[in-house]
Amino acid sequence: MSKTVNIDWNNLGFSYIKTDLRYVSRWKDGQWDEGKLVEDNKLSISEASTALHYGQQCFEGLKAYRTKQGKIQLFRPDRNAKRLNDSCKRILMPEIPEEKFIDACIQVVKANEHYVPPYGTGATLYLRPFVIGVGDNVGVKPASEYIFCIFCLPVGPYFKGGMTPVNFIVSEYDRAAPYGTGAAKVGGNYAGSLYPHELAAEKGFADCIYLDPMTHTKIEEVGAANFFGITKDNQFITPKSPSILPSITKYSLLHIAKEYLKIEVAERDVHINNLDEFKEAGACGTAAVITPIGGIQYKGDLHVFHSETEVGPFTKKLYDTLYGIQFGDVEAPEGWIVEVK
Ligand code: PLP
Ligand code: COI
Repeated sequence: MSKTVNIDWNNLGFSYIKTDLRYVSRWKDGQWDEGKLVEDNKLSISEASTALHYGQQCFEGLKAYRTKQGKIQLFRPDRNAKRLNDSCKRILMPEIPEEKFIDACIQVVKANEHYVPPYGTGATLYLRPFVIGVGDNVGVKPASEYIFCIFCLPVGPYFKGGMTPVNFIVSEYDRAAPYGTGAAKVGGNYAGSLYPHELAAEKGFADCIYLDPMTHTKIEEVGAANFFGITKDNQFITPKSPSILPSITKYSLLHIAKEYLKIEVAERDVHINNLDEFKEAGACGTAAVITPIGGIQYKGDLHVFHSETEVGPFTKKLYDTLYGIQFGDVEAPEGWIVEVK
């Protein structure tokens, strides 16, 4: 490491820290420019940008990990590139070639290498790629120009306490419509979640659980993370629905549960009235990693899974394996790790 920074790596939360350089590329007249690293963390855009008025924007979240040997690695950035492009397609924005996306991630990590937390602290460098519609435009139509940017910051746990169980409450609100944009990582889904989150937090819950918007009977998402449960006969279950964001962590856990833990897995409906089928439950995502769910409050009753204070054994094994792969201590499936060199 050439430079040092004064950060308390062991006590990081999930808050903005300005790092040195970010990547910016612009799209105009049908193509992306080469993109470059810039110091300025402010973007100057037209007051008539579609991102500001019509929510024509999407984003991603992925992390860089420092290994025991001091190397730096990314976890499945090709998956984030693909999902970003799926989001772009859904709201008529130009796609980013996968190599451009991964190369930009690598450039940003290298340029801010001294912000990659040391191995053993559990902290990581979070990368936030995003695409916004810009330019002069006032009608409801796609923008004529776009900006693709990636900034990064060191982060600790998203939910306070990391691997300590937290409780969630089922929301009466929806984050997405049945055939809307739930499967795309677009800002509007998150704007819609701010108020339900606030209501959950006021009642002392970590976040809310969203049910399927069509029938309000099945679990879809846990705040900004996917849901998983371990059934009493040791199956790893996670919900399936077109309005859930396809979590890269969730798909990684499906593989880990099957191939490393050797347990059965299924993506299928999870009925809110049938929580008894699970002995453990958790939230999973890049920011959340794996957060054990202590209990779920629904219609006035708190359903407790394994325990409100202790992590269940399957959740712990899933966490240890995922964490081990991400930090380079456990052998990763082919193609999951991209070294930053
Ligand atoms: N669901 C929502 C709504 C999210 O915002 C995220 C975060 O990206 C996830 C699930 C988890 O997805 P991933 O594991 O790809 O980070
Ligand atoms: C992530 O896990 O990367 C997210 O995007 C969740 C949240 C911070 C929006």
